[in-house]
Amino acid sequence: MSKIVRFGVSIDKDLLLKFDHLIEKQNYQNRSEAIRDMIRETLIKKEWAEGKNITGAIILVYDHHKRELVNKLISIQHDYSNLIIATQHIHLDHYNCLEVITVRGKSKEIEKLAFTLKSTKGVKHGSLVATTTGKEIP
Ligand code: NI
Repeated sequence: MSKIVRFGVSIDKDLLLKFDHLIEKQNYQNRSEAIRDMIRETLIKKEWAEGKNITGAIILVYDHHKRELVNKLISIQHDYSNLIIATQHIHLDHYNCLEVITVRGKSKEIEKLAFTLKSTKGVKHGSLVATTTGKEIP
């Protein structure tokens, strides 16, 4: 574990007030923890943009009664099986399914998989939550 250091920040008073208001709503106990999270968020976005190894989840909502849709989605997932760690399927109601596909791999490939699934005809909503493997984030 690396050493903790303190640093001072000069900031516009109104900007700081807005920041304090925001982090209070988000239940942060103090500014330090909020700033640490913002820094991590930025570093993770950089990992993502640089095409590094990342982890994440692709979330899909679809109607399984749509013709051939389930087969298409399964077939796409088999084409990208090297990226998929696990899938979870939840039957929301008689028609709608929620699928959470947990992924790990190069960001560009994961993005491609997410776009391919999301753009499949009949998928009502698709979303990619991209996070980090944690290896390069203290
Ligand atoms: Ni289902």
